[in-house]
Amino acid sequence: MSAPRRIVVALSGASGAIYGIRALEVIRQDRSVELHAIVSSGAKATIAYETDRSYDDVVGMADVVHDEKNLAASLASGTFLTAGMLVAPCSMRTMSAIANALDDNLIVRAADVHLKERRKLVLMVRETPLNANHLRLMHELALAGAVILPPVPGFYQKPTTLMDLVDHSVAKRSISSRSRIRSSGAGPVRSRSAERRTRARRAENPRRFPALAARTIVVPRRDIAA
Ligand SMILES: Cc1cc2nc3c(=O)[nH]c(=O)nc-3n(C[C@H](O)[C@H](O)[C@H](O)COP(=O)(O)O)c2cc1C
Repeated sequence: MSAPRRIVVALSGASGAIYGIRALEVIRQDRSVELHAIVSSGAKATIAYETDRSYDDVVGMADVVHDEKNLAASLASGTFLTAGMLVAPCSMRTMSAIANALDDNLIVRAADVHLKERRKLVLMVRETPLNANHLRLMHELALAGAVILPPVPGFYQKPTTLMDLVDHSVAKRSISSRSRIRSSGAGPVRSRSAERRTRARRAENPRRFPALAARTIVVPRRDIAA
C-alpha cells in the first residue's frame, strides 16, 4: 500500500487567519490527503480577533494536529514524508525564523525540514509595508527554494465578495499552483457565482481565459467562512 499524501498547513500570527482556515477547508476536500495542522499561539489570537471560528473548529478540519511546541513531532524529521507545506498566513517573525533556520518551534522546524529535503514550501507572507529586512529575508528564502506567496489578489475575475479575494490567493494560487501541493488533487475552490461569471467571460473570449483546472471544486456558499 502506498504512503498517504501528507500536506502540512500552518497558521502563524499575521493578520489573515482566514487564509489558513480556507486552505484547510480546500485541502480537506480531498480525502486521499492526510492533512496536518499547526497553529501558533499568535495565530490562536488572530483566529479569535479576526474570525468567528474557534481554535477547535479550525484544527478540527485536520487529520493530525500538532502542538507548535512539540519538537519531537513527526513533522520535525525529514524521514516523515510529506507532499508539501503551506504557512498561511506567515508572519514576519515566522518568516525570519525560517530564513535563519531558527528551529525553535514546530512550524519553523517543519518548514526548515521541507527546505532541506527540497520539498514544496509555500509562505503566504503578510505584512505591509515591507522594510529592507523583510525583503532581504524573502529573497533568501526564495533562493533556498521557498515559494513566496503574499496574498495579493488579482481583480481580473471581478471579485464581488471578500471571500472571492481570499479564494483567489488560497485556492487559485497556493493550492493549485505548479506544486506538489497541487498533486494532492485539491483543485481551486470557487463560489458558484464566481464560477458562473468565469464561464460567461470565457465563453465571450475563450482565448483570453483558458479553462480552469479540470478538478475545480465548487463549494456551496454556506461552507465559506465569513
Ligand atoms: C491582530 C494582530 C495582527 C497582526 N498582524 C500581523 C501581520 O500582519 N504581520 C506580521 O508579521 N505580524 C503580525 N502580528 C504580530 C504577530 O502576531 C507577532 O509578531 C507574533 O509574535 C508572531 O508569532 P508567530 O509567528 O509565532 O505566530 C499581528 C498581531 C496581532 C495581535
